Amino acid sequence: MARRVKYSAAAAGMLLALAASGAAPAQDVASVTLAKDTRGSPAERAAAMLAQMTQAEKLSLLEGFLGNDFAPAKFTMPQGARPGSAGYVPGITRLGIPPQWQTDAGLGVATQGGAGPKRGATALPSGPATAATFDPALAYEGGRMIGREARAFGFNVMLGGGVNLLREPRNGRNFEYAGEDPLLAGTIVGAEIAGVQSNRVIDTVKHYALNDQETVRDTGNFIIDEAAFRMSDLLAFELAIERGRPGSAMCAYNLVDGLHACESPFLLTDVLRRDWGWQGYVMSDWGAAHSTAASANAGLDQESGFGLQTDAWYGRDKLEAALAKGEVDHARIDLMVTRILTAMFAHGLIDDPVTDTTGPTDFAPNRAVAQRDAEAGIVLLKNDASMLPLAATAKRIAVIGGHADKGVIAGGGSSLVYPDGENAVPGLKPTGWPGPVVYYPSSPVEELRQLLPDTRIDYADGEDPAAAAKLAKSADLVIVFGTQWAAESIDVQLHLDGEQDALIERVAAANRRTVVVLETGGPVLTPWAAKVPAIVEAWYPGRMGGAAIANVLVGKVNPSGHLPMTFPKSLGQLPYPGEPRKKEATYTEGATVGYKWFDAKALQPQFPFGHGLSYTSFTYGDLDVTRTDGSVAATLTVTNTGKRAGADAVQLYVSPPPGSGWEAPKRLAGFAKVELAPGESKRIGIAVDPRLLSIWDTASPGWSRVPGAYTFTAAQSSRDLGPSVKIDLPAAKLPPQWRP
Ligand code: BGC
Repeated sequence: MARRVKYSAAAAGMLLALAASGAAPAQDVASVTLAKDTRGSPAERAAAMLAQMTQAEKLSLLEGFLGNDFAPAKFTMPQGARPGSAGYVPGITRLGIPPQWQTDAGLGVATQGGAGPKRGATALPSGPATAATFDPALAYEGGRMIGREARAFGFNVMLGGGVNLLREPRNGRNFEYAGEDPLLAGTIVGAEIAGVQSNRVIDTVKHYALNDQETVRDTGNFIIDEAAFRMSDLLAFELAIERGRPGSAMCAYNLVDGLHACESPFLLTDVLRRDWGWQGYVMSDWGAAHSTAASANAGLDQESGFGLQTDAWYGRDKLEAALAKGEVDHARIDLMVTRILTAMFAHGLIDDPVTDTTGPTDFAPNRAVAQRDAEAGIVLLKNDASMLPLAATAKRIAVIGGHADKGVIAGGGSSLVYPDGENAVPGLKPTGWPGPVVYYPSSPVEELRQLLPDTRIDYADGEDPAAAAKLAKSADLVIVFGTQWAAESIDVQLHLDGEQDALIERVAAANRRTVVVLETGGPVLTPWAAKVPAIVEAWYPGRMGGAAIANVLVGKVNPSGHLPMTFPKSLGQLPYPGEPRKKEATYTEGATVGYKWFDAKALQPQFPFGHGLSYTSFTYGDLDVTRTDGSVAATLTVTNTGKRAGADAVQLYVSPPPGSGWEAPKRLAGFAKVELAPGESKRIGIAVDPRLLSIWDTASPGWSRVPGAYTFTAAQSSRDLGPSVKIDLPAAKLPPQWRP
């Protein structure tokens, strides 16, 4: 889309001049020694470094270049940038400050589009899949794995950490995020960020904030009541930042309440720094800066992606002019540089520099991480009469559609991870941005054939529905794959691509023993749900997706994923049923997002938030909720009452006393993933974050809890509620700076 092609000759000239000027700086032994002196805190070391810097050196850290081979044909990568990277900020050799080599994104090392060379990397399953695990430990492992690859490929800043809430089920980037609930999304994304950063690289939380759809993402002005904002999208960011401690945050393309997100003092200073006490640096999304002084004074530290837009707002000429006019003062520039340097010291970029490693990578252990994540994130949505797991006795299985004979689909845009191996289905449209459409070479059909050697497994691509129905009729059982391709810069329809709904109907009519496997970016409508006995949501399952799907289908893995988002029954159930929001829109639903909306409006979803079946069953007992020193915690006993080992995502919901001012009848207050052998019981504890028992008080800023009886309920989903306990809680007030 537009943002990938804007480029001017003037920009090219300036870019080359700057790159050339930084090419051969003098080496200053005393200053380089300073970089190597590990005494002092990151902030102290940054201050000492700052004192050595010339103004030109300071300004050079504030502007990032495009480092990739994305669209602009005339684009010349700055000297020192690494091929296929998202961005590049030159280092200062004289001072021993390395460049910042930036790579996308949250699902793995994304070596970008365009015609240039692609470096294969290991793709995790998509964000909703990891959120569906309800398992921060797995999210951490995934982050650790992709951060390890980033470092091995010579990158020291990863642009992962997407935590925008799923407000708009048609958002083309939902597959990069972690669903609709602030607690779940913030916890999972925070864990992933911490995992990435465990490799001594910086990770980024993004896209701050309200970039909840791609329609009008550059120009849309989104308005929301502050209290609602604090209790929804901002809370997701707050939790992700608290748990992940990212070195950087990326401000979004869109406007928030009339100001571009990258020049919003409310977002970048009041909330992020004053209230949350975060110490990192803010970078703009690629081309999302729109001013020099206004952005700098609002709290934007680094402009990214120069080379995409025609103007570099943080180019040296502009910053010097702003300084000369007194629009920006020297202390502000020092602050911006200090934040960047502090993060670089804190996250090992200077002490433990990345090297440009171009050698082969051992992908086997990394693929194992991706597979575990995919397996734990697959959600069994429906399983009438125990259709699944597949019986080893089935003689003939027909598999239809979704290119399941070749691989599994991935989402498009800057987060697309090219596989180590070929695109299994090349040539699908769009082949250019935000494509190409990529299928990872992990074929469900091939994996099933390996797992079920005595079963005949036939495949039909579904292009000819009559032939597909004929094949379905001849089989003992049918597995239809339904796909939805989603990508950055576009929003999608709330249904499977093309004619797949009709295909499923037709196949199910031919053979009622039909299992549907979905590979989607987010929720889709499932108008055929009542006509098929089993449905599996596999999301974009990543590099090992075929193996993960097959393992779940045959029961080698017992499914334990739970939906991180509501699947609506119809478009009409959404707060914005018509189409995604246009230019200027108020988020009238406020914090009433996802299941909260469905609860508040008493709507019956197709599949509720938190829903996910297993091949075994669980019960909850002896729920106990206690309050000690202001903190609330629940304990309960979880029992596996079935015949298979399995994992459960225990959810704890809380409902407020009447008159609480809450946005919805209940909120997710905590969760725990627990593994149990058949017949086994475990006593587990779930601590409740006090912010989730409060509302944001704008009149006297902070979190405020009304006194009264709160109901805590252990549940298998937001609509499958188990035992509950009521306890009285007194009024309480927490300052905006409150931390757990
Ligand atoms: C995306 C970011 C990404 C950046 C660099 C932007 O278009 O919104 O998520 O990190 O490009 O590729």
